[in-house]
Amino acid sequence: MKIINVPIKNNEYQINIGKGLIKGVSKYLDTKRNYIIITDSNIPKEYIADISSKINIKGTVVFPPGESTKSFENAEKGVNELHKLQANKDIVLIALGGGVIGDLTGFIASIYLRGVDFVQIPTSLLAQVDSSIGGKVAINTQYMKNGVGNFKQPLCVLIDPNTLETLPKRHYNNGMGEVIKHALIDGKELYKGLIGNEYYPIEEIIYQSILIKREIVLKDVFDNNIRNILNFGHTIGHAIEQQSNYEILHGEAISIGMYLMSKNTSYRDTLELLLNKFSLPKSYDYSVDSLMKFIVLDKKIVNNQINKITIKEPGNPLIERVKIGSIKEYL
Ligand code: GLY
Repeated sequence: MKIINVPIKNNEYQINIGKGLIKGVSKYLDTKRNYIIITDSNIPKEYIADISSKINIKGTVVFPPGESTKSFENAEKGVNELHKLQANKDIVLIALGGGVIGDLTGFIASIYLRGVDFVQIPTSLLAQVDSSIGGKVAINTQYMKNGVGNFKQPLCVLIDPNTLETLPKRHYNNGMGEVIKHALIDGKELYKGLIGNEYYPIEEIIYQSILIKREIVLKDVFDNNIRNILNFGHTIGHAIEQQSNYEILHGEAISIGMYLMSKNTSYRDTLELLLNKFSLPKSYDYSVDSLMKFIVLDKKIVNNQINKITIKEPGNPLIERVKIGSIKEYL
C-alpha cells in the first residue's frame, strides 16, 4: 500500500494505491456519509457490489463508455439523475471508471448545487496515472476536447491496480503514453526504470508517475504557467484525437504529439523504442490543415500566440510562447 499526500491549500487529500483496495473502501471513506456511484456500462458489476457492501450508496448512474459520453447532454442527464435520487448538498459522488467518467463526474460535482464532494476511483491506467490526479474536470464541446471544465479536487483518490487485470491491452498501452510523458518530463527514476530491462512492477510505475505529476500540480494548481509542461505532446495530440473522432485514443494521440515535438533531440531514438515497446503510434494520416483547425482553438492562445512545449533532454522541459502557425513546422 502506498500513500501520496496532495497538500493543496484548503483542499488537502490523499491518493491511496493498493491491490484489492476496492474491496476495502470503508477504510478510506466516511461511512456516515451517503454516496452515489457514477460509472459506465463496461465497468465490472462486482466493483459496484464491493463498494456498495461497505458504504451507504443512494444510487448508481451508468453512462455508455467512450469519449462521446463527456458531453453537455450527459452532464445535464447526470444532474437530473442526482435530483431524482434526492441528492442533497451532503452527497458524495464516486467516479468509478476511466478518464471519461472521472472528468464527467468531477464536472457534475463542480456544478451540482454549486458544488458537492466527489471521490475518484480510477480503473484505467490512464486515469490512475494522470486524469484522476490534479483536479482538472471537463466535458467536450462540439468544437473542442475539454472545451468546458473546472478545477475540482476530490476528497481522495483510491487506486486499485487489480482493475488493470481486465483492461484490454490497447487501453493499458494508452495509459503508458502518459507514463512515458511523465518519465521524459522528470528524466530520473521512472525514465531510467522504463528504459532498463529489469522488471518494473505496475504499482511502482503508477506511484512514480503520480509523484512526478503531483510536484508539478503543487507548483501551479490552476495551470497558469509551469503545469502546462504536462501538456507536452498534447497540442498536436488533442488535434489528432478530435480529427479521428476519438477513434485514436488520448494516450495514442499524445504519443504521436510527443514524437513529433521531439524532432532533432538526442532522446528521440529512446522515445521511439519506448513507444514501440507499448505499441504506441508515431505518425498520423491527416492533412496539416485538418489538424490546424483544432490547434487554432487551443485554450492557451492569447494574442495569436500559443504555448510550444518541448523537452530539450529528459528532465528539462521548456515552455515558449510562439506564433500559432509555427506549430506547423512539427506536423
Ligand atoms: N493532464 C494535464 C494536467 O492535468 O494538467
